[in-house]
Formats: sequence, structure tokens, C-alpha cells
Amino acid sequence: NASYPFHGTHQSGIVTPAQDRLHFAAFDMSSTASRADLIELLQDWSSAAALMCQGKPVGEFGAVDGPYDAPPEDTGEALDLPTGGLTITFGFGPSLFVDASGADRFGIASQQPAELRELPHFPADDLDPQRTGGDLCIQACSDDPQIAVHAIRNLSRIAFGRASLRWSQLGFGRTSSTSTSQVTPRNLFGFKDGTANIKAEQLGKVMNSVWVPASATPSWLAGGSYMVARRIRMTIETWDRTALSEQERIIGRTKGEGSPLSGGTEFTAPDFAVLGRADKPLIDADSHVRLAHPESNAGTEILRRGYNFVDGNDSLGRLEAGLFFISYQRSPAQFIDIQMNLAKNDLMNEYIRHVGSGLFAVPAGAKQGSYVGAALFV
Ligand code: HEM
Repeated sequence: NASYPFHGTHQSGIVTPAQDRLHFAAFDMSSTASRADLIELLQDWSSAAALMCQGKPVGEFGAVDGPYDAPPEDTGEALDLPTGGLTITFGFGPSLFVDASGADRFGIASQQPAELRELPHFPADDLDPQRTGGDLCIQACSDDPQIAVHAIRNLSRIAFGRASLRWSQLGFGRTSSTSTSQVTPRNLFGFKDGTANIKAEQLGKVMNSVWVPASATPSWLAGGSYMVARRIRMTIETWDRTALSEQERIIGRTKGEGSPLSGGTEFTAPDFAVLGRADKPLIDADSHVRLAHPESNAGTEILRRGYNFVDGNDSLGRLEAGLFFISYQRSPAQFIDIQMNLAKNDLMNEYIRHVGSGLFAVPAGAKQGSYVGAALFV
């Protein structure tokens, strides 16, 4: 039963070994909320999150020890459950700084990082506005789905009157490893996912690719990161009718071991120059791994932390399934460059569709006694 502290230099839930379950939620501030309301909300969210990460109920009296004639402060479904490795990670969307009408509702417009803008439209994007954007976001991860859901439920309840849920996503089954201590899981295409991910133990890569440097302007985001969330629908019925050889060509790795098609085992570096029959490289030039690899992106890397999802079925009887992609990077440009490369040429595009999206600035961790994002309001 893992437990991770809420307070610290960085927020938990980024380089924390990816837990098995996700409840992600994006919120909009209410039209009447003031700067003071926003600050109080972040303070209330931070205190509640700190309690829940210790496995405690929210509020002074929790779920069953409060006044008998009032609704309990905590909703109660996590009573008797362990900490479950819960992490709660908060992010700020571009619209928190300047809303759609150009208004600076909370007096923070001058603090908006130049890079915190809506993501560009990528080729074939099919975004649903109801699963896109948001003033604020919360990523709750745990090894127990009930613990992650309890966290989002109670934080939504605390926000009542100040912010309301805009969209949310449940995820089961991590699709990446973020620590060398973890085995590589599989996505819904049945392939190992997370092999070539940045791992927490690779301190140099984490420092250079994940955390916003101290020299950044505005300085309130130093020690934080940028989170990209993409709800990617996978047409798995079509995928399941595709030959194994074609599936492996699309990914650029074997389905069983997850080794690059250029040879070796799972963690052997891919060699994109090795030629197969008829002068064809063993790894297709348009395979997902080739196009996403640092060699094809001027060395750019990101930390992936996504989840599988199946939300029942659609009206055509197909599984409403896919990958809820989450990545962390010190600059949104890292994601944008890789995704532009993929969106144009990736062989996988025939089987996926990006239907939801969000970009959020994720502040550094809160100090004990303080709250997430405090540096934004000094
Ligand atoms: C690698 C699947 C979307 C970036 C991989 C691998 C698989 C995979 C199976 C190989 C194993 C590994 O190294 O993790 C998928 C699926 C996706 C998806 C099923 C969508 C449904 C994306 C997106 C991005 C991305 C949107 C970023 C824009 C990467 C990167 C690698 C990778 C950077 C590592 C490449 C390398 O250095 O070898 N992905 N991926 N993927 N993917 Fe994706």
C-alpha cells in the first residue's frame, strides 16, 4: 500500500510510479467567482488533497463524526480503504488567465506564461468541445479506482459555487511506466506501452525535459511542468481485423516482447537504418515509434503517463475505447512537435482519433502550510 506526500518540491503524480487507475477532471470557474474565491478554492483543495493522500477523510469531522443533522463533510466511500498510492495533481488552463471574452477575471493575465495557449489544431483532430479545455484540472491517480473517484468527488463538492466540473475521464490500466521498478504495461492495441518513456530514475532527462527551470518567466511556474491531456479514441474493431505483421509494422515493435523490429530485446535501442528485404528498413519510416522517437524530433522527449479507457459502447455497437494520453513536459512545444510529426504521417492514424484535449500549467508542489499555485498570487 504505497503512499505519497502531497507537499513537496514538485507535485506528486508526475514522476511518481504510474498507478493503475485514473480519474481526471477539468473544471470551469463560476462566472461570479472572484480572485479571493479562486485563492480560497486552491487553499481548500490543497488541504483536502493533503488529507486524502494520507488516507484520511476530508474536513474537520470527516464522514461520520460531524453534526448528526448536517450532511457529512466527507462522502465516506473511502472509509476503511488504505491510501492506495493516491496522488492529486492540479493544473491551470489558459482560460483561467484570460477567458474567451478576453477578460482577466482573477487579475492574473500578466502572469500567463507565453506558452500556455490553446494547442494548435493538428491534422485530423476531431475535438469535442465538451471534452476539451477547462480553467482548472485535477489528475487523481490511485491503485484503487474507488480512492481516485472519492478524491475527484470530494474536490468537486468542495468547489461547489466556485467551480464546476466541465468534463472528466476515468482510466483503468496505466499505459506507461514512469519508473524502472515497473514492468511495461499494455495498451488496448495489445502492445507494450511505455518502454522508451522517461523514467523517474533518469534524473538528467527529468530535469531537462519535465520540470520548468528556475530561470523561466513568469517565475511562479518554476519547478512545475506542463500537462497535455488527449482523449484518443481507438477503433479497436478495425485494429482487431488487422494482421499481426501489419500491427507490428504500424508500431515498429514486436507485439510479444515489445522489441524494436530492427532486433534485440525490449530495451534495445531501435536502429532505423537497418535494412530488411528489398532495401526496406526493418522499422517502417512511418511507424509510430520512428516518428515519435527523439531522432525524428530533434532530440525532444516527453514523459508519458496515460491510461486505457472503455466507456461502454457507442451507438453503432463499437467499444467506446481508447487511450487517455497524458504527458508532462517543461514546454508544450515538446508535445506539439512530436504530435505534429505523428498527426501528419503516423501509420497508426487509421486506427485512432483525437476527440478531447487539454493543456494545463502544473505548478510546483505546495510547501507544508501553503497551497498549490500560491506563487501565482503573491
Ligand atoms: C511509443 C502506442 C499516442 C508519443 C509508443 C509505443 C507504443 C505506443 C505501443 C512503443 C512502446 C514505448 O516506447 O512506449 C501509442 C498509442 C497511442 C499513442 C496506442 C494512441 C492511441 C501517442 C501520442 C504521442 C506519443 C499522442 C505524443 C504526441 C510516443 C513516444 C514514444 C511512443 C514519444 C517513444 C518513442 C521512442 O522513443 O521509441 N507509443 N501511442 N504516442 N509514443 Fe505513442
